[in-house]
Amino acid sequence: MTTRLTIRRPDDWHLHLRDGAVLRAVLPETARDFARAIVMPNLVPPVVTAKDAAAYRDRIVAALPEGAEFTPMMTLYLTEATDPADVAAAFADGLIHAVKLYPAGATTNSASGVRDLANVRPVLEKMAQIGLTLCIHGEVTDPEVDIFDREAAFIDRVLAPLRNDLPELPVTLEHVTTADGVAFVSEAPGRIAGTITTHHLMITRNHLLVGGIRPHYYCLPVAKRSRHRDALRAAATSGNPRFFLGTDSAPHVDALKETACGCAGCFTATVTMSCLAHVFEEEDALDRLEGFASLHGPAHYGLEPNDATITLEKRADPVTYPAKIETGDGPVTVFDPGVPLHWEVTA
Ligand code: NCD
Ligand code: ZN
Repeated sequence: MTTRLTIRRPDDWHLHLRDGAVLRAVLPETARDFARAIVMPNLVPPVVTAKDAAAYRDRIVAALPEGAEFTPMMTLYLTEATDPADVAAAFADGLIHAVKLYPAGATTNSASGVRDLANVRPVLEKMAQIGLTLCIHGEVTDPEVDIFDREAAFIDRVLAPLRNDLPELPVTLEHVTTADGVAFVSEAPGRIAGTITTHHLMITRNHLLVGGIRPHYYCLPVAKRSRHRDALRAAATSGNPRFFLGTDSAPHVDALKETACGCAGCFTATVTMSCLAHVFEEEDALDRLEGFASLHGPAHYGLEPNDATITLEKRADPVTYPAKIETGDGPVTVFDPGVPLHWEVTA
């Protein structure tokens, strides 16, 4: 039985770090285990220009703990006013690694998102030309579409046509939550990948709704039924390089989660590597954890994997993690996978 595993240091290809007091409190949780992260731009106001991204990057770097080795990979929030030249210059400078498409109104702070892809066509053409990745929150916002069907509807209505229309555009379908998403990413032509979150590998909609509403399991896209979670587990542990980790660790202080209209987001940074080792061991695929967490992501983004390593060890007794991280704005609850975790990062 394996009880010790050394892998190249992982990266997180979808992370929310926020700003100010919450940024300062949550950043060390990611920097502890991860070398790099694709940082989401959905601040208030959003990170829309190269100038915004440079300033946000500087605030992140200033918030890093002494001695931490962590590189934020910045993204721009695509709006219908985005300037293709600004995007291209930010990519050429090495400042940004992706542009993020939020359908307007799809999730937290997405009001300035895109209403009609035709309105951002010049930006997408430029990105296809220079090989810059479009990260996509893949849910339709049509009120007629059931929230559990919004990813599948997005694939049919938006993503499949976009793929055919601009096959050279590198695409990351983020936080895939359905068997439909897994199938699309597996089969679509061109440079396409899907990220999978920590929590969608572990929870189903039952965690959210059985025995009472459990706001700390509420995220977007919302967790689905177990056959979808099982499809995600199969994809993550398959060794298919199109699938890799994007935690979507999304901190909100408890006061904004435990309320009549709670925010979407699970804060998983603290426990992610422990959870992943747990899942990969259950799927008899510990030998594929490195691919999922450390190799496939850099390959998709045209980067080298990290030279440094981390070591995970399996303990006989469950490993404990703080239930909450204190921030200057209030506590943030750490994701509880609901099962004992035995793996921990030890070096
Ligand atoms: C994210 C957030 O809080 O910013 N929430 C979430 O549930 N994942 C937004 C997002 O990525 O959809
Ligand atoms: Zn997210």
